[in-house]
Amino acid sequence: MASANDARYGQKESTDQNFDYMFKILIIGNSSVGKTSFLFRYADDSFTPAFVSTVGIDFKVKTIYRNDKRIKLQIWDTAGQERYRTITTAYYRGAMGFILMYDITNEDSFNAVQDWYDSAYVLLLVGNKCDMEDDRVVASERGRQLSEQLGFMFFEASAKDNINVKQTFERLVDIICERMTENLESADPSITGHKQGHQLNEQPQRSHKDCAC
Ligand code: GTP
Ligand code: MG
Repeated sequence: MASANDARYGQKESTDQNFDYMFKILIIGNSSVGKTSFLFRYADDSFTPAFVSTVGIDFKVKTIYRNDKRIKLQIWDTAGQERYRTITTAYYRGAMGFILMYDITNEDSFNAVQDWYDSAYVLLLVGNKCDMEDDRVVASERGRQLSEQLGFMFFEASAKDNINVKQTFERLVDIICERMTENLESADPSITGHKQGHQLNEQPQRSHKDCAC
């Protein structure tokens, strides 16, 4: 997608077909919570204090090894601004998991978690900017309780100080792998996730019969 994001995203990784699985992941949450920063920290190990709000949607690709499998992550970074909602939700299809992010220094972003959750197959909640302890308005405990109530994993993280960024993605990959294995064990090839009916097993490019994740 050619957009104003291109200058920030630069060259996409070349098409690498050498992988065992491909997982499509989306990062969602209010504008300015740090979704783009989080992805840039993970994919490029970079961080910039400037705020360049994402226009529409864009993605980065990162290949990781997990349990002897080469897993290609296609990570979509969505715009948090309301006016892009129609565009971004069109990309939800086929996603195997969503990271829902809020900003620990922004109460509104935390209050919006439930709304985001209602529209997506969320597996993991991230309270970002945990480096800003002095400005914190959302206690860790509240994040943890909400994640338990909604039924997904929780991390506090910092894209700036590189806290729990890699761990978030690795845990997400593990959860997706566990779900895939569960689906196989239940011998139901059409198990769907969550209320929107996103197909958990829709995205893998190859058979995952022997998934050892
Ligand atoms: P939209 O694209 O509008 O949806 O916003 P976003 O969620 O992608 O936010 P973005 O990553 O652009 O970050 C917003 C601002 O927060 C920028 O100024 C970042 O530098 C800053 N920021 C992001 N993550 C952190 C963090 O972990 N700690 C601190 N202190 N600042 C952060
Ligand atoms: Mg962004």
